[in-house]
Amino acid sequence: LPISRILNLRELEEVAKSVMSYKAWAYYSSASDDEISHHENMRAFGRFFFHPKVLVPVSRCDPSTTVLGFKSSIPVFVSGAALARMGHPLGEANITRGAGRTGIIQMVSSNASLSFEQIANERISDSQPLFFQLYKHKDDKVAEQRVREIERLGYKAIFLTVDAVVPSSREKDIRAPFVLEAQEREEAPQKPGDAAAQSGDGETNLFGTAGGLIQFDDLDMSWKRTIPWLRSLTKLPIVLKGMWNSDAVLAAEAGCDGIMISNHGGEYLHPLLVVEAALPSIEVLWRLRQQRPDVFSKMEVYIDGGFRRGTDVIKALCMGATAVGLGRPFMYAQGAYGEDGVVKAVQILEREIVTSMRLMGVTSVKDLVPELVERVDWQAK
Ligand code: FNR
Repeated sequence: LPISRILNLRELEEVAKSVMSYKAWAYYSSASDDEISHHENMRAFGRFFFHPKVLVPVSRCDPSTTVLGFKSSIPVFVSGAALARMGHPLGEANITRGAGRTGIIQMVSSNASLSFEQIANERISDSQPLFFQLYKHKDDKVAEQRVREIERLGYKAIFLTVDAVVPSSREKDIRAPFVLEAQEREEAPQKPGDAAAQSGDGETNLFGTAGGLIQFDDLDMSWKRTIPWLRSLTKLPIVLKGMWNSDAVLAAEAGCDGIMISNHGGEYLHPLLVVEAALPSIEVLWRLRQQRPDVFSKMEVYIDGGFRRGTDVIKALCMGATAVGLGRPFMYAQGAYGEDGVVKAVQILEREIVTSMRLMGVTSVKDLVPELVERVDWQAK
């Protein structure tokens, strides 16, 4: 399909599915167990409805914002997802360049498939900001070196992932053999059956690609030890990625600069929650807004999980989020069309966001307020 024919993020996903190796598709698309949290992340948007204002001049409409003080052309950034080169030979570089060309910010995964230096060098100018997603290594010294490295390379913020201390069971991913080199895509198996035949050794790695990646992570992170440790190491803004209601308050008290509501795209879970029973992210944001509106004035609140439409983004902004992260859609976009796919994804989102803002009688993201969105539970009626 020529890229000019692509209308929405779902279509980018379809193209990615048809051109990427089965393994890349399995890794990017899979989620915990029966993938309920992942699907509910997306379905949950259907519970929220708008109250538009009419007769407001909207010919001028500006969807730009700032994230931790850095300008962003739309209230969207790239959530760090591992191993972009599984989907395309240029991998993360596609995202860096696409983000640079469209003026959005990329959060680079600790498990990127290019070095953090290579990624920094792909920026279209020195002023293009990059954020860094940190999985804390269990050895403090190794973790400290990582922080020093990304500071030296000019990364502007640290998103410490706090919800993925152990891998969950992502079954599509586990069944497909691990193929990192993008050059191997031609040889990659196309069907799960082939995959089993080719993996040869007959053994199942119970955690798939995801499990292999996070085996060195710190399972003993804590409020008391980890946040003061990181705070003492760096002046960079610290955002906790993977937060839930009550914890948001603790994050503010611990001196964090922001929180990111996330259930890891329905993939892994906070250790205190039952496997695959994470609430949809947008529902968590809604509850935080109802129960702790004070949090939003203490720090910036971000969110990710299931955002696929401009209206999804607008709903989160109405509830008080500063910006929204997208994980899989950017992996699919670069898998489908490389750098141009990333540019296309941002253009689609921008068009959808501006259209929705205009239809709501809003011309600036700061005017997206809680009164404009309502939660409706049809079944309870
Ligand atoms: C992720 N995610 C993730 N998060 C993180 O903190 N570090 C990482 O390395 C990864 N890697 C990763 C790989 C893949 C293939 C996926 C799908 C996800 C989670 C990611 O940052 C984000 O929270 C979710 O992807 C958001 O949900 P959506 O937008 O994919 O629905």
